[in-house]
Amino acid sequence: MRDMPFFRFTLARIVVSQLLSVGSPGGLLPGVWGTGLSYEDGVGPQAQVIDQRNSNALYNVPPPSLAGGFSQFSPPGTTKESLIAQPFHIYDEEFLAIIGPNPTLTLLNHTESDPIFHEAPVWYPAKDEMFFVQNAGARAAGTGLAKSAIIQKIPLSAISPEIVSQRNASGSVKVEVVDSNPQVINPNGATNYGDQLLFLGEGQGENIAPAMYLMNPEPPYNTTVILDNFFGRQFNSLNDASINPHNGEIYFTDPTYGYTQSFRPPPGLPKQVWRFSQATGVVRVAADGFNMPNGIAFSPSGSHLYVADTGMTQAFFGDDFSFASSIYRFDVLEDGTLENRKTFAFVTPGVPDGIHVDTKGNVYAACGDGVQVFNPSGKLIGKIYLGRISANFQFAGKGRMVILAETELYYATLAAEGAFPGKLY
Ligand SMILES: *[C@@H]1O[C@H](CO)[C@@H](O)[C@H](O)[C@H]1NC(C)=O
Ligand SMILES: *[C@@H]1O[C@H](CO)[C@@H](O)[C@H](O)[C@H]1NC(C)=O
Ligand SMILES: *[C@@H]1O[C@H](CO)[C@@H](O)[C@H](O)[C@H]1NC(C)=O
Repeated sequence: MRDMPFFRFTLARIVVSQLLSVGSPGGLLPGVWGTGLSYEDGVGPQAQVIDQRNSNALYNVPPPSLAGGFSQFSPPGTTKESLIAQPFHIYDEEFLAIIGPNPTLTLLNHTESDPIFHEAPVWYPAKDEMFFVQNAGARAAGTGLAKSAIIQKIPLSAISPEIVSQRNASGSVKVEVVDSNPQVINPNGATNYGDQLLFLGEGQGENIAPAMYLMNPEPPYNTTVILDNFFGRQFNSLNDASINPHNGEIYFTDPTYGYTQSFRPPPGLPKQVWRFSQATGVVRVAADGFNMPNGIAFSPSGSHLYVADTGMTQAFFGDDFSFASSIYRFDVLEDGTLENRKTFAFVTPGVPDGIHVDTKGNVYAACGDGVQVFNPSGKLIGKIYLGRISANFQFAGKGRMVILAETELYYATLAAEGAFPGKLY
């Protein structure tokens, strides 16, 4: 780390004050950084070190009714404001290589209450646009049974250095509605697929089945349904998908959020991970044993598959803090089957919803306080802290990320590069 040129910044004063402010026992312990990195290495004005040892013994720990699965936590010596003021939280020196010397976070747009910045962020490199969708089934959106959630997009080319230099540039980038045709009904997940975008729709009522749609990313945004059943049975509410880089098959999750958000009938199938080969037409189960299988992402080499289980939240049915809020990791075999399910990470606050990997195999999860980042062995190494729920986010190639936070839309710059950046399968 010491030898990486971009860390030869001398922001020693900032870091020293941060080390003191987190109240490291004994002051400037080299151990704060583990081995090999000195406090002479800079962290940038929007980053701060969080020393987890300061939180290990709180002496006065509130009960679950006060500190439950969705409660925000401010470590001793911090406040929510101070956590937001420097939103890149370094839990481990490995995070420095991810954020680089000068990461930035900018609010691009916000709404009063309609959660239009919800899910399915997918980057279209040819036009440098980020597509995403409104929350389907949220009461404040009026979507679900009454009307479908919509697809929207923003041009990333419009995000100038001047915008990036601001923390709040709300309203500076136009949010465009994408009129998919025929309309993708209650979209919730998306990924690049060939030169098209693949959207997963949760369905609507009893008679509009959840479906997988290909969408032309260019006007007129025409769509084609490629899958809407398993031998005549409707899926529950298709959520998210990732493409296996070895066989091109679509691996996807099917929890029951349409049902627990009152816009789909009771479940007609188990809550599983499925795989679908468009080439052969074969659709089959890939894994079961989930409560609410949600975000899904292949590792850069394709040798692992990460699947998030957000069972802790059952939407309108309430929360159960004893249910999963976890990311599981599978080994992916040559034939595309999965084995060796491993509990990779458990998160708080909130649930790990959308998950994505970078080119180095680090795993990023949209959680109850922003984007949390885990190294390939499942250790929390840092956060892009929003102090509010994010359901998903997406890299736009190298060094850029769009983060969806329901009523807020953020743009981050950092050093890491997303795996499969708009890759064409
Ligand atoms: C950002 O700026 C907008 C427009 O000036 C304002 O309405 C909003 O409250 C600000 N948001 C934050 C988080 O500061
Ligand atoms: C958000 O984007 C929309 C669409 O471009 C724009 O009309 C609205 O003013 C923006 N609102 C804020 C608060 O940024
Ligand atoms: C959109 O329409 C064009 C022209 O008819 C067609 O070639 C293309 O396959 C369509 N794409 C989708 C996703 O339906």
